[in-house]
Amino acid sequence: MSKITVVDDRARLIVGLDFGTTWSGVAFGMENCSGDIEVIQAWPGGNNRTTEKVPTLISYRGTKLAWGHQIDYTDEGSKTTIQGLKLLLDESQAYRFEPARESKVLIEELGKTPVGVAGDYLENVVAFSMEILKRRFSTAFKAMGIHYFLTVPAAWSDKAKDLTLRAARLARIPATALTLLSEPEAAAVYAIQTMQPNSIKKNDCLIVCDAGGGTVDIITYQITQTEPLRFAEATEGAGAVCGSIMLDEQFEALLRRIYRDDFEKEIPHHALRVAKQYWQDYIKPTYKGVLDEEGFKETPYQVPLPGLTDLPRAKNFDHGIWFMEHEQVKGIFDPIVEEIEDLIGDQLLRLKQKTLPPKAILLVGGLGSSEYLFRKLRASFDGIEVMQPKSSWSAVARGAVLRGQEGNQVDNRVARCNYGIKHWSPREKPSLKTQWCPYEEKWYRTDCMTWYITKVRTGIPGMSLDTNEPISFDFYRTVPQADIDTNLVFRTKLRCNHSSKGPLYLNSSKLAFGFYTVSGF
Ligand SMILES: Nc1ncnc2c1ncn2[C@@H]1O[C@H](COP(=O)(O)OP(=O)(O)OP(=O)(O)O)[C@@H](O)[C@H]1O
Ligand SMILES: [Mg+2]
Repeated sequence: MSKITVVDDRARLIVGLDFGTTWSGVAFGMENCSGDIEVIQAWPGGNNRTTEKVPTLISYRGTKLAWGHQIDYTDEGSKTTIQGLKLLLDESQAYRFEPARESKVLIEELGKTPVGVAGDYLENVVAFSMEILKRRFSTAFKAMGIHYFLTVPAAWSDKAKDLTLRAARLARIPATALTLLSEPEAAAVYAIQTMQPNSIKKNDCLIVCDAGGGTVDIITYQITQTEPLRFAEATEGAGAVCGSIMLDEQFEALLRRIYRDDFEKEIPHHALRVAKQYWQDYIKPTYKGVLDEEGFKETPYQVPLPGLTDLPRAKNFDHGIWFMEHEQVKGIFDPIVEEIEDLIGDQLLRLKQKTLPPKAILLVGGLGSSEYLFRKLRASFDGIEVMQPKSSWSAVARGAVLRGQEGNQVDNRVARCNYGIKHWSPREKPSLKTQWCPYEEKWYRTDCMTWYITKVRTGIPGMSLDTNEPISFDFYRTVPQADIDTNLVFRTKLRCNHSSKGPLYLNSSKLAFGFYTVSGF
């Protein structure tokens, strides 16, 4: 990317914040310099190392708070480090990641809450980023307005989004200067922009797969216009907690099991920690498959297990080295790859139902840069181009800035939830479920639902909603005469429900309802 050259102090600065499960990223650019985007790469504690993202780790030791690269990686340090923080904002996601569950206990012991800790982490990331920006823009910085685009997984529940907003508020990001944006949408905006302009045309469908640390999010877009670029969600997106940390968990489980089998005891914590780091840094990111380029079987990885050099030679170990076979790595990768293939396969099926042809699969995110995943998808989805755009690890933060610079490029989105309100509806006869209205002198059923936004409309699942069109319904409310002069502001609950079709009555359904309070009726 070229450097930002025009600095107009009246223009707004756009900051893209990617709060990731394992790594978080910050990108920025001036609102009026579309495409000029910088990513913060030098982080505190990084020892001159540049990384496009910073670890989503935080620890409180005594009064000292450490975050990102500042984290102390010793055994002692690892016991006080909070990991998988983001997953704790969505209860339904946290259970699948052991370190997140452990961190939850640690947070409780500290007398804190996940949202408070997320606020502390984001506050440090934002404060550091502001220092970089002050240096970058010098005196012009003071006069600049800043708008933040904070990304969240597409599968995030509305409750989790609300908690993310609260964390942002704790991080001193003003609510008026903040927009939440879906991660795959941000990634898609960036990834589609990196494609050669003449390689896409109107109506092409692109499946964007953001495979990160915790979650894999998939959204399919159809190009509605090429110049300027606009697109619409072609079908309901999908997501699952099957990111790269699941590979780490499987690695740990395998090593523990093999060690136990060979030595009939548990592997020491320190050796396990170093082996896991070796896996994360050298094996996982470079794994290509069991055969090398010439078709020969790859030699085993030599995983260091410090402190275990005195152990007798065993089936899989020698002098503090575990000889890890490439088939064992494959065994760890394949279930996750299959889950991603299923998610993509499901999107393809939905496209087929709508007779929309898929053009390409765009892979972004940390796991999205995996060569093995790339090869497997290319083999499984013959005839569809699989692409890994450049700088795909920071695609979400970059795309968040692009969203701020280009404005909304997505015309239609597909609802993942039904949204509606409970209301009264007249009935001819009284029953157990009706109530007498003294003002209108009629029987009413009081638990009827009207779904303003539905997942399925006129029988077509995943029907698009025009994001530029307000959704409104007529209704009236009967109030006592005495209230007319004093109280005509009402609060009601906006309810959400995930079933394919919103139920007719609130009480008739065993399905879970969430709600928000909306005022101003
Ligand atoms: N080439 C690779 N193959 C597999 N995994 C990788 C590779 N490169 C990085 N990773 C892993 O990807 C993860 C980081 O990816 P990313 O930053 O996209 O995730 P995140 O934003 O933290 O997670 P999420 O988006 O789910 O919240 C880490 O777990 C890292 O070990
Ligand atoms: Mg991510």
